[in-house]
Amino acid sequence: MLNAQDNQHVTQTGPGTPMGELMRRYWIPALLSWEVAEPDGTPVRVKLLGEELIAFKDTDGKIGLIDNYCPHRRASLFFGRNEECGLRCVYHGWKFDVEGNCVDMPSEPAESNFKDKVKVLAYPCMDMGGVVWTYMGTLENQPPPPLFEWTQVVETHRAVNKVLQESNWLQGLEGGVDSVHASYLHNNDITNTSRFESRSAAPSIEVEPTDYGYAYGSVRHLSKEEGNFVRAYQFIMPFTQLRPDDRRESSSSPKVAGHMWVPIDDEHHFVWNFVYSLGDEPLTEADKAKHSDLAYEVIDINNGFRCIWNADNDYGIDREVQRTQTFTGILADARVGANLQDRGIQESMGTIVDRTREHLATTDRAIIATRRMLQEAANVVGDGGTPRGTGPSYYKVRSIQRVLPVNVPWQEGMKDLLFEGAEYSPIME
Ligand code: FES
Ligand SMILES: [Fe+2]
Repeated sequence: MLNAQDNQHVTQTGPGTPMGELMRRYWIPALLSWEVAEPDGTPVRVKLLGEELIAFKDTDGKIGLIDNYCPHRRASLFFGRNEECGLRCVYHGWKFDVEGNCVDMPSEPAESNFKDKVKVLAYPCMDMGGVVWTYMGTLENQPPPPLFEWTQVVETHRAVNKVLQESNWLQGLEGGVDSVHASYLHNNDITNTSRFESRSAAPSIEVEPTDYGYAYGSVRHLSKEEGNFVRAYQFIMPFTQLRPDDRRESSSSPKVAGHMWVPIDDEHHFVWNFVYSLGDEPLTEADKAKHSDLAYEVIDINNGFRCIWNADNDYGIDREVQRTQTFTGILADARVGANLQDRGIQESMGTIVDRTREHLATTDRAIIATRRMLQEAANVVGDGGTPRGTGPSYYKVRSIQRVLPVNVPWQEGMKDLLFEGAEYSPIME
């Protein structure tokens, strides 16, 4: 439970809010690279942390992310002409480059130097891993680039997409660090009682803080002989989760998947989904499909990346399927994965869940740790300090799942796999 003030503190990310200031210390995914693929192509509306912005790729292939509103008399630059290394406002012709400089002001006398005094707000961008990233903070605090391992593997080994979620961002993140709900929400075969999550629906949740966030293990005891089934996740500040993608350890080509829950404004966010292959094998068509073109048949890219199954149609719930086959009756096939179930149930909690009325239990340990870490980091920023996760220590961390003997703690038994090659600082507290 949080009091109303703390609930505001952790959920609001607009300019000047504590959590908003915290988020402005990290690189943030702004849009998919293909949305601005064409030099001099169509500008794209982007809303991030409550700020209305316009993305465009200039003649030289540089990407700009600038204020939606022209600094002259506030016309939307979405209507701008993207021409010869700049976006020209169609109201009076002022033109801006990707850095926000006014490079032409044809409506003023030739001898005027007014254009040198006018700038439009512009954020630096970086195109990496199929994503255009931006940094919305001050220059002196700019962190090193977001070299998550998944952004660094070759294109055949990774896939990424995004979908609109009509709720506050923290609801998404809190679902993502809650592996307990897999036993219910994602039980897509209620007749299969041998599934680990069905055999052991009350895992113990163990959180191990690091200097970038935390690793956590959900430990499901199977039996003395079989051992414990452990799924180890990573939380990387401020909104990234890594989780093991393979359902069971026997897979020949291990994969790591993850999400980023990125605020559009306080009532909407984008859920970014990514997956990558750790081995030599590229992703299969099925892996790619879930994260690329096939998914776009159900994600309406012409309607703000909203899924065609949404609150208006109760996420396509099928009560007969719910009675006989799956726990929810909400679709979880190759096109939507389990994400539709997550989105449906998280939106059902209200746009910004009223955390004064919840009752957290022992399995909510990771959720409590997340809130605490976010609030603490926001306070660090408020005090002029550097929040965790702004260094490169998260670059190579991974997620993994294993069945371990009962006497082997996952922190030890999985250490090599979770942190192979990573220069992380272990357990700080
Ligand atoms: S409002 Fe943009 S040039 Fe006048
Ligand atoms: Fe889920």
